[in-house]
Parts: sequence; C-alpha cells; structure tokens
Amino acid sequence: MRILLIGSGGREHALAWKLGQSREKHEIFIAPGNGGTAREGRNTDLPPGDIPLIMDFVRANRIDFVIPGPELPLVNGIVDACAREGVLCFGPVAYAARLEGSKAFAKEIMREAGVPTADFAVFNDCAAAEKYVRDRKRPLAVKADGLAAGKGVVVASDAEEAVAALRGMMLEKNFGPAGETVVIEDALEGEEVSLLAFCSDETVLPLPSARDHKTAWDENRGPNTGGMGAYSPALALPEHRIGEITDLVLRPVLKTMKKRGVPYSGILYAGLMLTADGPKVLEFNVRFGDPECQPLLMRFKGDLPALLADCARRRLSGATPEWTNETALCVVMAAKGYPGEYSRGMAVEGIAAAEAVMPGKIKVFHAGTREEQGSVRAFGGRVLGVTALGADLREARERAYAAVAEIRLEDSFFRRDIGSGEAAVLVSAPDGSLS
Ligand code: AMP
Ligand code: GLY
Repeated sequence: MRILLIGSGGREHALAWKLGQSREKHEIFIAPGNGGTAREGRNTDLPPGDIPLIMDFVRANRIDFVIPGPELPLVNGIVDACAREGVLCFGPVAYAARLEGSKAFAKEIMREAGVPTADFAVFNDCAAAEKYVRDRKRPLAVKADGLAAGKGVVVASDAEEAVAALRGMMLEKNFGPAGETVVIEDALEGEEVSLLAFCSDETVLPLPSARDHKTAWDENRGPNTGGMGAYSPALALPEHRIGEITDLVLRPVLKTMKKRGVPYSGILYAGLMLTADGPKVLEFNVRFGDPECQPLLMRFKGDLPALLADCARRRLSGATPEWTNETALCVVMAAKGYPGEYSRGMAVEGIAAAEAVMPGKIKVFHAGTREEQGSVRAFGGRVLGVTALGADLREARERAYAAVAEIRLEDSFFRRDIGSGEAAVLVSAPDGSLS
C-alpha cells in the first residue's frame, strides 16, 4: 500500500517505525513528519489540518491508506473526505471526532450512554460561569470546550483560581474560539490511567493500559502539557480489569454513537480517574495518545498496517493483537520553556549511544526535530521520546533514564519521576496486590 501518515510528533515516529516493520512492503509518506520519520519514509510538507491540500496530495500520489496521527485532521473531516473519494482512512468521521473536539459534546454522549464521569455544567457566558464556580464551593476542573493541544484544562483548588481560568478562556480568549464555551466539572481524586481500544462499530479490541504524566515538572507540579512521559502497562489498571472497564466506559459510547447513526471507527481513548467511587472518565480522545503511543507500540508485536486497515474497513475480528509482556517506558525530553515559549535550533546528539545502552530494547523517537545536512536539530516543544523495554517497570525505567543520560541537548529538561510516585507506592503494597 501507499500510506500517508499525518503528523509530526513522537507518536508519528513510533507509528512510522511500526508501519515499516510489516510483513508486506509499504511505501510510507509522512506529512509533515520530523527528523525521525524521515528515516522511516518520505516526509512531505503539508499542514496536518488542511484537508483540501491533503486530498490533493492523496490524489496526486495515488495514496491507498491515510492514517491521521493527531486529532486536528479527524475533527476537520479527513475521514469523511477520504470516504467521498473511496480512499481508506483510519479513524472516526468528523461528527464522531467531536468526542474529542468538543468537551461539551463528550459530556452529552457520556450522560446519554450512562458512562461514569464527574458532575458538570456547560457555559457560554462568563458571569454565569463565575456564579456557578462560587456557589459550587469545591475544587473544580475548568475546561475549554474546543481543541487546545492538551493545555485547555485548569484544575483549580479554589474559586479564585477557577475564576481566573474562566476569564482567561472566555474573556481574554487564551485559546481563541476553543474557550468561548467552557465545561466546569468537579475535580476528581485518584490514580489516572489511559485505556485505548481499536474500535469498529461495536467490535472492541482494547490495547494494554498506559499511564501518562501530564504536568511539566516532577511530582505533578507545573502546567499541563501534552504529556512528559508514559509507560505501559499502568500498574493501577492490570490486565484482568481491562474487560470490566471496557464494558463500563467504551462499549456504551460505541452503542450510543451507533444509535445516533454514526458508528464509530478507529481508536477510542478514555482518560480515566480511578476514584474511591470507581473509574470515571476525564476525557475521550479519538486517536493514539502521545507519548502513550510510544511505549504501547514498543510492546506491539503484530502487523500494524494490516490491523489499522482491518479496523478502517470495519473488518476488525475478535482476535487480540499480540503484545510483549515486558513493560515499556518513555521519558520525553523537551525544550526549556515548554509548554510556553521555548528554545529552538539546538543540536541533538547521542541518539545512537542512547540506543546502544541496551540494543533492541531502546528506541529514541523524534518529536520536534529536523534533520539538516546530516545533523539533527530541535524545533519543537517536545523534542525526543526516549523509550525502553524492561522485564518490569523498574528495569524499563532504569534503561530509559540510562539512555537519556547519553543524549546531549542544550536548553532542555525532562521529568525525573516517570514511572515512580504513585506507581512506586503501588509496587511496594505489602500484600503484593497492584490495585
Ligand atoms: P483532559 O484533557 O480533560 O484529560 O484534562 C487534562 C488533565 O487535567 C487530565 O489528564 C487530568 O490530569 C486533569 N483533569 C481533567 N479533569 C479533571 C477532573 N475532573 N479532576 C481532576 N483532574 C482533572
Ligand atoms: N498524552 C495525552 C494525549 O495524547 O492526549
């Protein structure tokens, strides 16, 4: 097949790398790609959200299969556009992609489907939202309704903080039109985990669980980012509980979408909080998470293009794809300043040395990099995802950090606690149980 993969992050490097390991020989184009994807296929300079331009490329290059990495092309209707031209495309149509594109829509679907989630209210008017916040008298999560690259959520411990977030979104328009509507929900406490599944209509193949670390700095401090590291499996969501949670939060959504006449296809990703009252959904995404995709694909042993194409053709069988039992862990190295304004142009060195720390068990995925005259330079907020496999979380973690130590990247930072913290407490539970 001639495959067009859309995106430029660590997720897309991981996808391109796995697509290239298929039994069949495929030709892979990546739009726009990065310094890592350039080695797995051919980068082509297209903006990921511009559907007409992408479709021109699809026609001109006789692309058979389009795989969108990020949410923007999905929300903008790439699946619908491909369907009109008879081109296979992995993911949900634009209407269903609103599960991620509008937090108010996601809440409406959850309510209709009976999926457990935090109590909430939706506002278009800032004064009314402020009144709600002051009356509610409890920690709240204030969320811009539309897409904000994972940064449009503020978890506020008091009313002043929540009001400041509301004004930033609704009056100062920090997120543009995405913040004209806000969802305000009760803050939840517990362990956060991600459950992703390949879905087509009502067939669901869950992936192993994953855990993302969203805040910029250690110990869950600092602003929310797209994710500073991740590992799989998540200790808090062991294999034997995945079926139960799939039934609780994924199947009802698929059923509801079908009832609305728009059967779901692609990845459905539930961001969950495991609270004292049971699991509750924080958000849905309609694509692979980034960086979660990096450790997940390190563990994947099947034929990825075949699986994604079966899913897109709605021929997903009940057969579970194969995953190694090892743990995979990814540490993101980001440019200083991320998720705000960040440094650019720094040289990236030591990638080969990092992968040589444990050959075959370490892969350095590129995110915001470009290759220029044989050398790699940093151009994005998240620059690299250093990912390692190990027999358990501790070994994966040790290997990933040993690999990070080999990389030379000025003006950068990374979290030192990926895979520790709550997880370490769980590991050492005296009765040996994991949840
Ligand atoms: P979202 O994009 O909705 O997943 O929100 C981003 C992050 O904000 C989540 O991964 C959580 O860490 C945090 N968050 C979102 N909603 C809540 C909530 N209701 N209670 C506590 N934390 C939340
Ligand atoms: N890492 C979170 C996300 O991809 O949304």
